[in-house]
Parts: sequence; C-alpha cells; structure tokens
Amino acid sequence: MSAAGWTCRRQPGWRPPRGRAGRTGRGRGRASCSTSVKAGEKDLQHTGRRPPTPDFSARTARAVSGAEDIRRLLDTGNVKRERIAATRGMQETTVAESAAPGMMGAMRQFQGRIVFNEPCGPKCRKIRVEVPERLVRYEPGQFFHIRCAAGTDPLLRRPFSVYAVKTDAGGWVQHLDFLVLVVGHGTRVLAAHAAGGMLDLLGPLGKGFRPPPEPARHVMIAGGVGIAPFYDLAEHLLARAAGGPAPDITLLFGSRTKDELYALDALQRLGIGIRVATDDGSAGHRGFVTDLLGPALDEAAPGAMAIQLYACGPEPMLDAVIRIARERQVPAQLSLDRRMGCGLGACGACVCKVSAPASPDGWDYIRICREGPVVDAARLAP
Ligand SMILES: Cc1cc2nc3c(=O)[nH]c(=O)nc-3n(C[C@H](O)[C@H](O)[C@H](O)COP(=O)(O)OP(=O)(O)OC[C@H]3O[C@@H](n4cnc5c(N)ncnc54)[C@H](O)[C@@H]3O)c2cc1C
Ligand code: FES
Repeated sequence: MSAAGWTCRRQPGWRPPRGRAGRTGRGRGRASCSTSVKAGEKDLQHTGRRPPTPDFSARTARAVSGAEDIRRLLDTGNVKRERIAATRGMQETTVAESAAPGMMGAMRQFQGRIVFNEPCGPKCRKIRVEVPERLVRYEPGQFFHIRCAAGTDPLLRRPFSVYAVKTDAGGWVQHLDFLVLVVGHGTRVLAAHAAGGMLDLLGPLGKGFRPPPEPARHVMIAGGVGIAPFYDLAEHLLARAAGGPAPDITLLFGSRTKDELYALDALQRLGIGIRVATDDGSAGHRGFVTDLLGPALDEAAPGAMAIQLYACGPEPMLDAVIRIARERQVPAQLSLDRRMGCGLGACGACVCKVSAPASPDGWDYIRICREGPVVDAARLAP
C-alpha cells in the first residue's frame, strides 16, 4: 500500500486527524498517539472497560492480544494461513502468512527458545532467540514485535530491531539477537527472561534499509541503543561483497558515556571504520556524534562513489542528520522509533507525517510499522 491516501483496514476511509504525530525521530513520549495506546492498555488490563477515546486504541489492544485475534485481523486482507509443526522440540505453533504487497519477508508469529540473555552495558541485555527451522526470512532494518510476558501484563507487544542474525545456506533465519535497553515496564519484564524460556515473536515487520549497489560509501550514524540495526546491516554489506573488494563502511557511534557504547567490541571485530563520540568525553570526540558527520563526508573524493547515510537514534540526532544530509545533498535512510500498538498497520498508533508531492496538500501520514521503520530523510522535515 502506498504511503499516500492509506486507510485503516477495519474502517475504510479513516485517516488520522492532522497534527496527531507530526514530528520526526524517536519522539519518546511526545506523540499523542503514545498516550492513547498506553491508556488503552491499562484500561483493558485493569478494568476490562473500553477506553473512551480514541476508539482505535481498544481495537489495537484486542488485535494483538493473541494468535486468534491476529488471524482475525489478517482475515481482513489477502492472507494465506498454514499450520506448522515447529521443529526442535518447540511447541506446535499456528502462524499466519501475510501476503501484503511490498513486504520483504513473510510475517510469522512463532515461539522461539531463549538461547542466552546476557548483560551488554548498563541496563542493556543481549538476548538470543532460536527460530524454528525454515520459518523466517529477514532483511536488515526490519523489526520484530515481541510479547514481553506470557500473561497480559504488559498486554501490548514491544518493537525491537534485530542486532544480529544467523541464517542457514538457504537464507532462513536460525537465530536472532536483540539488544534490549530497559526503559520501562515492558523492557524490564523482557530483560528478566531466563535462558531456556520461550518468547512469542511477531515478524519480520516493516520495511528495512535499501543499500545502494557497490561501489558505495556507507556511513552509519547511531545514538545509544540506536546502534541495534547497524551491526546486522554492516554484516549484511560485508557478506554481500564477499569475494570482491571490501565495502567502504564507516560507523559514527555516539552515546552519553563510554559504558553506553553498546556492543562496541563486537562492532570493532567486524573490521569497519568506527569513530565514537560521548557527551562526557570518556571516549572519542567530546560532543555530539553528528559533529563527526561533516568531516566524514569531507573525506570522500568528490564524485568518486555514491554516498549513502543510515541513521538510528534519538530525535535531535536524527534532526541533525536530516539537516546535514540536505545541506550536503546526500541521501539518508532513517530508522524511526515510534511507540506502537498492533505493529500490523491497523491501529494508526505509529503514524508519522511525511511529504507527499502527489497528495493535494503536499503531505500525508505513513505508518512506521508498515511503511517504515526505515524512511528516506527527503520525506521528513527537520
Ligand atoms: C522499530 C523500532 C525498533 C526498536 N528497536 C529497539 C531495540 O533494538 N532495542 C531497544 O532497547 N529498544 C528498541 N526500540 C524501543 C523499544 O520498543 C521501547 O523502548 C519499548 O517499547 C519500551 O517499552 P517499555 O514498556 O519498557 O517502556 P514504557 O513503560 O512503555 O515507556 C518507558 C519510557 O520509554 C519511552 N518509550 C516507550 N516506547 C518508546 C519508543 N518506541 N520510542 C521511544 N520512546 C519510547 C516512553 O515514552 C517512556 O518514557 C525500538 C522501537 C521501534 C519502534
Ligand atoms: S502500530 Fe498499529 S498501525 Fe502501526
């Protein structure tokens, strides 16, 4: 479905009102839609009543409350169903395959065994989840919607990028690694799961990065746990170029302090160019990571190679990347962070205002869970 003129599947013709979510970037707690989803979650959990407004938050909560509801939700579209007896001793899992056009890998709901859950910096865990054989294919930048608890607290799933992935020779995912930064109730519950337990995952969801063909200069800008999708993207670019010249990859990684440069050792082992910045000067440049972007771009010989920027991190960082990309006329793909409800494009909780030249008023809304999370900077206003 194109970004322009999209409608809610359950309510044809529905469009989010102007001003619901007009800002770019992480928007931690800023977008009014976030409040409505959380209110809906609480209301259903503790009182069983329907939240008063807006109506779609109740639908969101119901839509993601279980496999049966997800199947019902998907029944509104062009959906094929199948039952898969999951292998390796995992419980039998019913999955739904979305046939929505433009999606990179078929979306699945499945139970995955936790292989390990280990610390990865302050308040951060690295969790590896085993995936049933020949079930999931995935592209860098897509995300998974994870049920944090087996019960209903919290009720809504939480979205996570894939930090690392292992696939078999046929490209089927064998396990997924996630970096989980504990910021609230859902991530606290998720981070407490022990190895050997099962997690309920929905994905892969959304649209990921679209790297240009080689030769190209890839410059990644990450802030804090926004590093998560870039280990996998770098591995993907290295694997894609295997047998040919090594790809030109530079990672600019910023955080508040040295300890919050999550997974830096593992990134250094990839052999890519890495420059770091910290607010307190405890590692690398003292200041913003975006201070490093101009000099990194200056190093490129003019016209020698196509440059592609990729960014994921806090909203002010993304705003700076958009501004610099515009000034230097360099394309940038941003992975946006919005609070989500269904993750399936049905509830409207994650909408973001973008430019849309084909639309009469020049702008439109996209759903970050469906048309994102990776969005071209050219569509976003700084
Ligand atoms: C596509 C996508 C990929 C993501 N990948 C990762 C990842 O790899 N690792 C990771 O640690 N986190 C990631 N996040 C953010 C993660 O989903 C949230 O931190 C999580 O949902 C918070 O749940 P909670 O119940 O712990 O927090 P809550 O109790 O719901 O909220 C706690 C605080 O976090 C803020 N918050 C909650 N959700 C978000 C959000 N989506 N964006 C910004 N602020 C939020 C709230 O405003 C509040 O201040 C991703 C988000 C998206 C949309
Ligand atoms: S989270 Fe429901 S539409 Fe995106």
